[in-house]
Amino acid sequence: MLLRAGGRWALLAALFISVAHAQAPLPPARLKACAACHGEDGNSAIAGTPSIAGQPRIFLENYLVMTREGVRGSEVMQAMLKGVRDTEIVALSKHYSELKARPPAATVDRNLFERGRGIAARSRCGSCHLPNYSGREQMPRLAGQREEFLLEVMLQYRHNRRKGGDTMMSAALYGIPEEDFKALAHYFSRLK
Ligand code: HEC
Ligand code: HEC
Repeated sequence: MLLRAGGRWALLAALFISVAHAQAPLPPARLKACAACHGEDGNSAIAGTPSIAGQPRIFLENYLVMTREGVRGSEVMQAMLKGVRDTEIVALSKHYSELKARPPAATVDRNLFERGRGIAARSRCGSCHLPNYSGREQMPRLAGQREEFLLEVMLQYRHNRRKGGDTMMSAALYGIPEEDFKALAHYFSRLK
């Protein structure tokens, strides 16, 4: 059920935050705990763990509130965020949204990259994620995100197994063959 109700949860999360839009100081221990997986500067060096630097503030707030409520994220993150106040989630989100996304140095497969570029353009992914794929509001940054994470997430949306995921994205991928996800993931991950 919750899988399907992703859109509604996101809306609730947004409402929740908007009534409490004040910031609390960030406890250094919290940042250190996040850094263990997401990197000191929000750029992840761990396969399967996304970078969170330079993500839109609203996307971060929604994701973190929903994780705290147990409908998104991993069990580790749910436990870490349990009982964390809204004001601190607002501050955490602001912090990571202001850090610079730094894609890891990785080789570019020109053919795959160009194929990905074409599919993304034809599928109008930029109409929501912005033409440079830096994201806005509740739409996450795709540029510079880890390749294997992007691929896995697209497969999760395709097979309706993205926990707490927005059904808008399953619809956006409709009609794109799964073989094309690899090219899309390669393309986005190599964008600065
Ligand atoms: C044990 C490792 C670990 C720790 C610690 C951790 N995370 Fe995560 N985080 C992950 C993994 C793995 C994912 C991918 C889960 C998914 O697919 O939604 C993730 C996903 C996220 C996302 C979604 C990013 C996206 O682009 O979809 C955000 C935001 C996030 N974490 C923030 C945090 C914050 C803030 C903290 C500290 C309070 C934290 N995480 C602590 C492993 C961790
Ligand atoms: C109608 C707007 C819309 C369009 C068009 C769209 N997206 Fe999204 N996308 C979203 C939203 C909203 C999210 C966040 C969903 C969530 O929170 O579960 C998202 C999330 C994603 C994510 C997860 C990233 C992360 O860090 O968690 C990927 C990957 C993605 N989109 C790829 C694409 C691709 C590829 C296309 C083009 C085929 C596309 N999107 C088109 C709205 C859109």
